[in-house]
Parts: sequence; structure tokens; C-alpha cells
Amino acid sequence: MIDSEKKRIYICMGSACHLKGGEKVVKIFLELINNYNLTNEVELKGSFCLGPCAQAVVVKVNDKLITDVSAENAEEVFKTKILPMLM
Ligand code: FES
Repeated sequence: MIDSEKKRIYICMGSACHLKGGEKVVKIFLELINNYNLTNEVELKGSFCLGPCAQAVVVKVNDKLITDVSAENAEEVFKTKILPMLM
């Protein structure tokens, strides 16, 4: 599969999202992508501020924003919101 066909998950790297633990969310998502054997299909990317900073951490999949992601709910969000969007 060539890179342009990969689905992308963008994680906001803006300051508000960074302060709310964006890097932890990145680590958790990377692990989950690995665990679900999605490394060939899904790419995790950093993004500039996605807009709704008050609802950090913000993630974008298929042009849809998912807000209020945290290290605590990252796995749940991945399973219930992100995975279905990737299928
Ligand atoms: S810093 Fe993440 S939405 Fe603005």
C-alpha cells in the first residue's frame, strides 16, 4: 500500500493540546495502531492547532474533529470513535 492511500489520524500539537497531554495520546494511539495491526493502513500525524483549543486534546479523522481526548480516555475513543471511521 502506498502512503497516499493510508488513512490519517491527526493529533493536534498546538500549545493547548500539548498542555493537556497530546504527547501521551500520541503514544497510546501508536500502541493501539500497532496492537490492531494497522501500521500499514493508518498513519498518525501531528497537526497545527485544529481550532477548538478549549476542548483539547483534539484529534481529526476524515475531516471530523474528535474533542476532549485525554490519556485516560484515549483507548476508549480509539475503539469507539476512531476505529469505525477507519473501516
Ligand atoms: S491547540 Fe489543539 S485545537 Fe488549538
